[in-house]
Amino acid sequence: MINNFKLALSNYPTGIICIFSKNLKGYYDSIIINSFASVSLKPLLVLWSLDKKSSKFNVFKNSKNHIVVILSGNQKKITKELAFQKDQISKKEFSNILKKSICYFTCSKNKVIKAGDHLTFFLKINKISQIKKNRPLIYYKKKFLIL
Ligand SMILES: Cc1cc2nc3c(=O)[nH]c(=O)nc-3n(C[C@H](O)[C@H](O)[C@H](O)COP(=O)(O)O)c2cc1C
Repeated sequence: MINNFKLALSNYPTGIICIFSKNLKGYYDSIIINSFASVSLKPLLVLWSLDKKSSKFNVFKNSKNHIVVILSGNQKKITKELAFQKDQISKKEFSNILKKSICYFTCSKNKVIKAGDHLTFFLKINKISQIKKNRPLIYYKKKFLIL
């Protein structure tokens, strides 16, 4: 049933988001996700879900502010690095990612819900960056594609 569910969802193309959180040492923790969704307009709320088994579980559970970045097609390489290799990144790497992205939201936590084997974060958007016209990065049938 789980494999069939995964197969079904692999036919549903999504955008690719990177969530960042600044840590006390001035570095940024990150996670690549596609569980992002819009929730509300008044107030502006979005959500994403974090796997309880993730190595980043405590980082994102404990941090009050999340930065939600919509990644562009020219960020395929860094996306794979962030998803499968890199741990924390420097402030300089972080600002390069923001520069090449389509846009980003600066958010604060509104609500956290335990949902099965994930935690779902409801985030209030405090600030929306400039929105660029780059082509987005999408995930479809286990592949990163440029739309
Ligand atoms: C396209 C894609 C979407 C993902 N979406 C999520 C997600 O919504 N929530 C989540 O917790 N992990 C998600 N992941 C997994 C994380 O990005 C990360 O790869 C995974 O947690 C492995 O890291 P870890 O070994 O540090 O736990 C996704 C990975 C990929 C490639």
